[in-house]
Amino acid sequence: MIQKHAFPGVYHAGSKLFTKSLPSAKGRRVYGEKLVYQSQEEYRSWNCYRSKLAAAISKGCKSFPFNEKSSVLYLGAASGTTVSHLSDILTKGVLYAVEISPTIFLDLLKVSKTRPNIIPLLADANKPNAYKPVVGNCDGLYQDVSQRNQVEIFIKNSDTYLKVRGYGMLIVKARSIDVTTSPSVVYDRTRLQLEERGFEVMESVDLRPFYKDHLALFVKSM
Ligand SMILES: C[S@@+](CC[C@H](N)C(=O)[O-])C[C@H]1O[C@@H](n2cnc3c(N)ncnc32)[C@H](O)[C@@H]1O
Repeated sequence: MIQKHAFPGVYHAGSKLFTKSLPSAKGRRVYGEKLVYQSQEEYRSWNCYRSKLAAAISKGCKSFPFNEKSSVLYLGAASGTTVSHLSDILTKGVLYAVEISPTIFLDLLKVSKTRPNIIPLLADANKPNAYKPVVGNCDGLYQDVSQRNQVEIFIKNSDTYLKVRGYGMLIVKARSIDVTTSPSVVYDRTRLQLEERGFEVMESVDLRPFYKDHLALFVKSM
């Protein structure tokens, strides 16, 4: 039996997570996920091994900076796996989805075709001004780019687009930042860097066993 989760737009049946398919995208799978029907509604299973946002929810995060009306800038959209679930959640909102790889972007474009709340952007998140003509001030910033300078990218984009007291979710991939240092030291450094730049770090969630050496950091801009 699929039930509402405490977070807006998220559903669960036991430990399994789902989102309700956006009406315009009904019947369409994005990454081979299961479609489940209940009371004439369609739900898409949300795989914690394919989406770090699902993994954070499954690990019991207390923060969830998204609701149906949110405007969100998503950096590292890839082929749209997590983006598609956020698109299910932001039914009255907008999701600016930035991806640097032209090949992967083609898949993202396909996903966006039936999801009008996704604005796909082929761009480098290192250069936030490049998408200024399209992206407005956002309630939330989600980043999953696996780059060495991922904290710098997050801060630049936040300075450019995140509203005052906006929420950010940064997926820290320790091994991309520094392979020679233990992940816990990289996590501590990252937290400190964000605090020094005026973010309040509200929560951090280790994403094991779904993802090794990954931390989800939930922050608030000041
Ligand atoms: C780990 S994958 C993201 C997975 C995705 N967030 C999901 O959950 O479905 C990282 C993605 O970030 C993209 N990326 C890396 N550097 C980037 C940059 N500077 N700007 C935009 N995208 C970038 C990569 O091409 C890759 O598709």
